[in-house]
Order: sequence, then structure tokens, then C-alpha cells
Amino acid sequence: MTASSLGRCLAALLLPTLLTLPSCFTNKQHQGERLYVQHCSGCHGEQGQGIGQLIPPLAGSDYLAQHPGQLACIVRYGLNGPIVVNGVSYNQLMLGVQDTTTHHQLSPAQVTNLLNFIEGHWGNHPGPGGLRTIAGTEAELRACAVR
Ligand code: HEC
Repeated sequence: MTASSLGRCLAALLLPTLLTLPSCFTNKQHQGERLYVQHCSGCHGEQGQGIGQLIPPLAGSDYLAQHPGQLACIVRYGLNGPIVVNGVSYNQLMLGVQDTTTHHQLSPAQVTNLLNFIEGHWGNHPGPGGLRTIAGTEAELRACAVR
């Protein structure tokens, strides 16, 4: 084996390792997706599509885009209509979400990862502040109107 073919061989061995390496560091991003599947998809759908006139969509939702500062409060304390999402009226009740195993509120870190996932998928965009931070979520939660 020549030096150059050894080099190619090593590159072929190393490249897949390098390409898969980032997956070691993305667990926090996956936490948002896991939390969505666990706590939201049963109502809002796996792709955020909602259910007709019963459950509003999160995918491409104009309501979501126009109320970035209220989303953490909605996750924690729920929402009690009437609201209009993409031209459809909803007057339903969404309860605040609790961790299904611990029965505690989702932590600011969990809410942050969850909302970053939602705002990064299905045609949605991060709010004016860009990617959410835990400190930003804590500030939003402190400012929630007590319901
Ligand atoms: C038990 C069903 C249910 C679950 C679970 C649920 N929601 Fe909702 N959600 C609703 C309903 C119903 C509404 C409409 C409430 C209204 O009419 O005011 C709503 C409204 C919303 C809205 C505002 C409207 C829109 O579509 O943009 C957001 C944002 C939202 N939910 C996010 C979430 C997130 C994030 C989770 C998971 C942490 C979640 N919801 C879990 C039923 C649910």
C-alpha cells in the first residue's frame, strides 16, 4: 500500500466518524423535539397541523408568529379562547402542560428547547429575538398574566 492510498483509506475511515460526530452534541436540540412529541403532538399533530376547527395548527400559524412573547406562558398556563389562527376561529381550552412523569411544570430550559424546536420547523421562524435563551424564557414566564 502506497502512502497516498493509505491516506485515502484513512480518510474514508475517518470521514464517516467526523460526519456523525456532531450528533454527539445535539441532544439538547433533540430534547425540544422529544418534548413536543410527548406533550403537544397528541393535540397539535406530529407535523403541527392541528385538528380542523378543534385544535389550531402550530405549523405556519400566524398567531404563533404574532405572539412570540406569550408562547412560554401558553405552554405553562394554557390558553382560553377566543382566538383566530390563520383565519379560523377557535374558542377552546388548552390547559398548561406538566411533565407527564414528574407532574412538575416544564422547566425554563425545557420550555426554551421546546419553543426553539417549534419555531424552527414547519415553516415557522424564530421571533424577533432570534433563538430563545433560558434567561429570555425565565423573563417571559415572570411576566405571564396570572390566570
Ligand atoms: C389537550 C390538547 C392540547 C395539548 C396537549 C396542547 N395544546 Fe396547544 N392548544 C390547544 C387548543 C384547544 C388551543 C386553542 C385554545 C383557544 O381556543 O384559546 C391551543 C392553542 C395553542 C397555541 C396558540 C394558537 C396557535 O395554534 O398558534 C399555541 C402556540 C399552542 N397551543 C402551543 C402548544 C404547545 C407548545 C403544546 C405542548 C407543550 C400544546 N399546545 C399542547 C390544545 C392543546
